Amino acid sequence: MTRMMIRIIAVTALALVFALPAVALSGETQYLFEDKCGLCHSLEQSMGAEADAVGWAAIMARMKQKASGLISDEEAERILEYILKTKGVDGK
Ligand code: HEC
Repeated sequence: MTRMMIRIIAVTALALVFALPAVALSGETQYLFEDKCGLCHSLEQSMGAEADAVGWAAIMARMKQKASGLISDEEAERILEYILKTKGVDGK
């Protein structure tokens, strides 16, 4: 094996290692969204509103209140981040 090939393989392996936690995290958060936000209505409705980041924060606060105790602050934060990222809301 040439040094060049070894370098390419090493760099690729390193990139994969760094990519893994991000993939695992988003998968877990998607599960959280499906678990918590599919309880009372469809997931399409959960993702369906047209709102900016502030609007979504308000919706999350309302849903969290409705679910009384079912969604923790930390979960609400992660789900909000997931929704904004999935819908491409940039926070402006
Ligand atoms: C305890 C039941 C319950 C849970 C859990 C719940 N919702 Fe809702 N949701 C409702 C009800 C009832 C409505 C319709 C009345 C309303 O909008 O307040 C609604 C409406 C909505 C709407 C439409 C509101 C709008 O302003 O357009 C969105 C979006 C939504 N939910 C998102 C979510 C998300 C995201 C989650 C997970 C964090 C969630 N919901 C969890 C009960 C729930």
